[in-house]
Amino acid sequence: MSYPRTRLRRLRRTPALRRAVSETRLDPAGLVLPVFVKEGATSASPIPSMPGVEQHSTGSVAAVAERAVALGVGGMMLFGIPAAKDPVGASGWDPDGPVPAGLRAIRERVGDDLVLWADVCQCEYTDHGHCGPLDATGQVVNDPAVDGYVRDALAYADAGADLVAPSGMMDGQVGAIRAALDDAGHQQVGIVAYAAKYASAFYGPFRDAAESTMAEGDRAGHQMDPANRREARRELALDLQEGADALMVKPALPYLDVLRDAREDHDVPLAAYHVSGEYAMIKAAAERGWLDGDAAMHEAVLSIVRAGADLVLTYAALDLAAAP
Ligand code: PBG
Repeated sequence: MSYPRTRLRRLRRTPALRRAVSETRLDPAGLVLPVFVKEGATSASPIPSMPGVEQHSTGSVAAVAERAVALGVGGMMLFGIPAAKDPVGASGWDPDGPVPAGLRAIRERVGDDLVLWADVCQCEYTDHGHCGPLDATGQVVNDPAVDGYVRDALAYADAGADLVAPSGMMDGQVGAIRAALDDAGHQQVGIVAYAAKYASAFYGPFRDAAESTMAEGDRAGHQMDPANRREARRELALDLQEGADALMVKPALPYLDVLRDAREDHDVPLAAYHVSGEYAMIKAAAERGWLDGDAAMHEAVLSIVRAGADLVLTYAALDLAAAP
């Protein structure tokens, strides 16, 4: 009988040893909390398909920001739920709309202690739920949609966003927004490109949260096909050429190969969006007692960091920061 001399278990014996040799840590500074601000709301209300997540008033979102700062969370990403919708999504660029109002309320409360990100897309603001105006066949028309994103981005920059994050997956959106921000004197506002964003089934609960469910159709005509890995490299490279300051891959866990490619190809800050469905499925299983929700959430987000993300957008940011 021969026994191994190499014993990998030596360094796994105690929590202190494991901590000492841990290769990946969850730093709250790298977590970004997505939040939903509802126009006209006077208090927070729960979102049934996303346990622990709420639609916010400007007052309640500012209180969340205060908690985020206290926990060391790096930033917040704002989504808006407007009082009125139309075919082009004009409420998206209303200077008094939910995102500009939320940005101002948070900034007033916490100053520059949080990085404020604003998602830029029209799907929350159009009455049909698509990411921009539609043609006769129900496809989003690219350039008019980009014109809308430009107006959104300017409104969010005016309201104090540090970063705008175009998520509509229209061609040319990053370049157009960069040019418009520069022309308007917002050279300091950065762009995080949702560069590799897939047409994913994991966005389901988000559409409840943002009240942006499509009347009909899908987003496969502009978001990426889940089958494609190589194509993501083109999307990421192109968004950098157009002037993106940082890149994002979305969703996260089902696309860790894409995230890893992005990490190897580019040295810019890399974000991954742990999306609503990824969050909700852990919460749902935990509610049934099928798994330990806190441990599973931690493992999921740790895996995203291990694969190469510098920043993770996750609805669990406050919980993870409280117990990293
Ligand atoms: C807007 C947008 C979506 C998400 C972020 N920005 C929805 C979509 O593309 O349909 C999804 C986020 C999540 O599921 O948590 N275009």
